[in-house]
Amino acid sequence: MDNGWQGIIEAYKEFLPVSAQTPIVSLKEGNTPLIEAKNLSQAIGGNLQIWLKYEGLNPTGSFKDRGMTMAISKALEEGSKAVMCASTGNTSASAACYAAKAKMDCVVLIPEGAIALGKLAQTLMHGAKVLAVQGNFDDALNLVREITAKYPITLVNSLNPYRLEGQKTGAFEICDVLGGSPDYHAIPVGNAGNITAYWKGYKEYKQAGKINTLPRMIGFQAAGAAPIVEGKIIENPQTIATAIKIGNPASWKQAEAARDESGGLIDKVTDDEIIEAYKMLASLEGVFVEPASAASVAGVIKLNKQGYFTRLPITDYRLPTIVCILTGHGLKDPDRAIKVATQPTIVPAKLKKVVAAIGY
Ligand code: F0G
Repeated sequence: MDNGWQGIIEAYKEFLPVSAQTPIVSLKEGNTPLIEAKNLSQAIGGNLQIWLKYEGLNPTGSFKDRGMTMAISKALEEGSKAVMCASTGNTSASAACYAAKAKMDCVVLIPEGAIALGKLAQTLMHGAKVLAVQGNFDDALNLVREITAKYPITLVNSLNPYRLEGQKTGAFEICDVLGGSPDYHAIPVGNAGNITAYWKGYKEYKQAGKINTLPRMIGFQAAGAAPIVEGKIIENPQTIATAIKIGNPASWKQAEAARDESGGLIDKVTDDEIIEAYKMLASLEGVFVEPASAASVAGVIKLNKQGYFTRLPITDYRLPTIVCILTGHGLKDPDRAIKVATQPTIVPAKLKKVVAAIGY
């Protein structure tokens, strides 16, 4: 059954730089669920109303599809034949997918041995030319910048402004569902494009009179890859959340602007805190995300323990609302899930043994 949803460009074209001439390349991305997390809210004190924006349910399993439908559609409109990106995995999966749909060539540079298995599988299956660079994400992005400046290949990292235009639609969807802006917007920060895009989206919706207030933007980096928090480039970033293992974010300044203009903050969470939130989301809410996505929830848990949310003036008699962006699906990184979860119990194929193993 067709529910009428035609993707983010069709839904929000009045807010996007497209015209009737733009050839829309879409897999009906967006319109992802906003799920109220009652069990999680209860487990961490019951003083917050937490909502989960489950971006893992986009066509390639991450929020990147919102930006990629725009970037690829505009590249096609401009007559480009090939696109290129550096990636910690999700951008490459999305670029490869949308380029395939648009019949364009796609080249991706990934840090060798440092992207999750599901993302590599997707990128290869969609037919991109994949180069594993013997360096980290920041090295790969520098190479892509140089190459796309010299050769006729369109850059589709979030330095491409159309990417952020597409990604800002996540903010529109949240406001449309809640009937206004949340009080807080929690989000993982890697290359810092998404926090920039969401802030732009909220501001534009307010400008258009669709919402009356703006959220405080609260971003979270992994502790071993927290250049914005530390105020310096991290030469050798480290974290199990490979999607956000970035030491020199491209949208660093814009992320700081989102933080400061909104009265929010950018903090860091340890790998242990990320894993804890990752497990809680799966076991309490039935929402399976990749580790980087759990950074937003890990950050909320950390700040709540510090009393951050109660210190702020909340004028009416309701709980503060927080939307956590869950950026990518748990199946992207099966290795991590297997590592942290309880393993299956091996039993003989005998009724008595199975029943005994169940505990009866
Ligand atoms: N969460 C996931 C699952 C990601 O893949 C990324 C970024 C982020 C969060 C951070 O978003 O970069 O806009 O601050 N992934 C990029 C990639 C870098 O190549 O897939 P950001």
